[in-house]
Amino acid sequence: MAKVKTKFTCLECGYESVKWLGRCTECGAYNSFVEEKDIDPSKSKNLSKKLLDTDIQKPKKLDEITITKEDTIKTGMGEIDRVLGNGIVKGSLILLGGEPGIGKSTLLLQLSELVAKKDTDVLYVSGEESLSQIKLRADRLGVKNDRIKILPETNIEAIVENIKQTKPGFLIIDSIQTIYTDEITSVPGSVGQVREITNILMNISKNMGISTVIIGHVTKEGSIAGPKVLEHMVDTVLYFEGERMNTNRVIRTVKNRFGSTNEIGVFEMTGKGLVEVTEPSKVLLEEKKEDGGGSVVTCMLEGTRPMLVEVQALASKTNLAIPRRTGIGVDYNRLSLLCAIMEKHLGINLSTYDIYVNIVGGIKVNDTAIDLAIVSAILSSIKDSPVPKDTVIIGEVGLLGEVRQVLNYDARIKEAAKMGFKNIITSSYSKASDKKVDLNVSSIYNVKEIKKLI
Ligand code: TYD
Ligand code: MG
Repeated sequence: MAKVKTKFTCLECGYESVKWLGRCTECGAYNSFVEEKDIDPSKSKNLSKKLLDTDIQKPKKLDEITITKEDTIKTGMGEIDRVLGNGIVKGSLILLGGEPGIGKSTLLLQLSELVAKKDTDVLYVSGEESLSQIKLRADRLGVKNDRIKILPETNIEAIVENIKQTKPGFLIIDSIQTIYTDEITSVPGSVGQVREITNILMNISKNMGISTVIIGHVTKEGSIAGPKVLEHMVDTVLYFEGERMNTNRVIRTVKNRFGSTNEIGVFEMTGKGLVEVTEPSKVLLEEKKEDGGGSVVTCMLEGTRPMLVEVQALASKTNLAIPRRTGIGVDYNRLSLLCAIMEKHLGINLSTYDIYVNIVGGIKVNDTAIDLAIVSAILSSIKDSPVPKDTVIIGEVGLLGEVRQVLNYDARIKEAAKMGFKNIITSSYSKASDKKVDLNVSSIYNVKEIKKLI
């Protein structure tokens, strides 16, 4: 008999070690190791097969494989269809991660109805809420459809039995951290459980052609197995982002076997659930003040969607030996880097200022095309001179102070023109191929030239 061994797994990256480590040697996370009992490997291998009683697969020639049109379910909610590639691919496994309370269950209940309307049976498995709680939410959202079935269950063996009986086309598991299998002794939510359950669900969805969405909670402390350990097992990974105090919500594609990554969908949390925001630029710029130093509009582009956002900066005199740098919605390291570039190339002594940068609307930006806007906003705050409100600033800033061109410039200026902007400050290397866009362009090669413009 194989000996049951103990191993330690990093919750952040899934790295395994024979002994406990305070800091993961792989990803550098602190205090992220949990102890797990290894299950008998022969048992584990056969577990999902046993549950499914499926025949062994035979290889097929590429020519023999046919793809039919109905292979995706279009939900009709544009924002969701886009982040998924082009609707929900049949038999695909999707992971939706996000902090608790961000709106994952809400979104999937709404999605259930949209999918059910496309003549697909839906099975919503909830390990977190009771039938009446889900019913209450459904009533609140106005979700009503005979094709949706709710199953409050946490045991995967029982869930699989139900799946075999109901044969749904769309399956929701809410959430992976609450489901367990009898075959493993560790508690629900531990890496071993979460991995094994996902493995079973992956086999089911592939074999039975069920599109499955797995909800995974991400906590800041990482006390339960983060969805990070599952990312490689699923087809699509979506992350739900947003500040709880703010009603804006963003779904970001981190991985997608059926479409491009970094695609984002924008939603607003309302009293009647999530509503898609089809014109985010309009919503995000709604409250922009007419004047005042430190506010700059830029155009970010995540995936294929250009979006105008307001970058705000506040530079205030500091008494601290090490001045504060705080970025909300922007990467801290990027902000530090831009401050260093400003010191070197604009010749401004920033060590006497605390600097705060915020992207309005609770949006997180990874796009480096907003660099020049951040620099401009900080400069504008220091000089206390407002940037004209009909100006958009786009450009990546390099370490040598050079202003670089950005990806998909055309899409960005089109969006700016559509929203009524008249002037643009950008890199001299940016060339618009679409001559129809009517914007007054001021172009610069180096970040120092920005001083003359604002
Ligand atoms: P929920 O979907 O339960 O979050 P998660 O599954 O990610 O943990 O959403 C919970 C929050 O959403 C809760 O704070 C209340 C809010 N909410 C609304 O604002 N409007 C609604 O129509 C619903 C159903 C929830
Ligand atoms: Mg929930």
